[in-house]
Amino acid sequence: MNITIRQLQIFEAVAQHLSYTRAAEFLFLSQPAVSMQIKQLESEVGMPLFERMGKKLFLTEAGDELLIYARNISQQLVELNDVMDEIRGSERGRLTIAVATTANYFALKLLGEFYQRYSGTNINFDVTNRESLLKHLNENTADMVIMGRPPEGMDVEATSFLDNPLVVIAPKGHSLTKQKAIPLSVLQQETFIMRERGSGTRIAMENFFEESGYSISSVMEMSSNEAINQAVEAGLGLGIVSQHTLELELALDRLEVLDVVSFPIMRHWYLVHRKGKRLTSLMSAFKRLVLDDALKILK
Ligand code: PGA
Repeated sequence: MNITIRQLQIFEAVAQHLSYTRAAEFLFLSQPAVSMQIKQLESEVGMPLFERMGKKLFLTEAGDELLIYARNISQQLVELNDVMDEIRGSERGRLTIAVATTANYFALKLLGEFYQRYSGTNINFDVTNRESLLKHLNENTADMVIMGRPPEGMDVEATSFLDNPLVVIAPKGHSLTKQKAIPLSVLQQETFIMRERGSGTRIAMENFFEESGYSISSVMEMSSNEAINQAVEAGLGLGIVSQHTLELELALDRLEVLDVVSFPIMRHWYLVHRKGKRLTSLMSAFKRLVLDDALKILK
């Protein structure tokens, strides 16, 4: 295949905007120039990359696949640029970090410390759930990821640096708050507010109950820890969340952690990057700060 980087960039823009016109505006090109490049790319690939249904443009299966490679290649080009900058002795650098929603409670403190040490750095920060973090790793769109449980079947380097206990929370004054060593069978009679599918907390919780032979029922799903904490506080049900999300709620005495048998579910936080990734000195510095100093910084 005789594909140019320029064609891939144009393809990426069309795939992102799902519109030739908007991609053309974004790239400061004319619309016919964009559609000609896509036509040439499609003829190289030998298959259509987009299909139109009604007024909407969609990626075909071939388009979806090509997009993964196109993003990887652009990320590699950005990395190449960084490395060249470094060789040129430039002080400034760029760092793209993605963290799990739940890790955000402490990750900003780590970034704050990092920024103090390397103030010229241009930091890109994404807070998202486990599923999207896996996508970041897969498409090489983040230099480093902070997540619970490293991905299986993916070539990554993962090092754990912090505990992540999951606890059961109840509103103040709930009848179970006075009970010690609550058996799991009692939890079965309660209703729970759960994180969305794709969340690492949710997966860990489901695995835990599956292994224990008990099951719990959910009244509601929410995609943010804050929302769960507030819903529990409002008496809508019990919740299972990471201890990291509770600092404020416990300090303000808004919620209580229940004493449940086999809890907390002990998980860990990992710093993860693709195996073989060429780490710039800035990335290595961030890695060192997280692995060596996180406990001190977060104390
Ligand atoms: P999450 O946290 O629930 O915010 O996705 C990630 C994890 O705990 O693995």
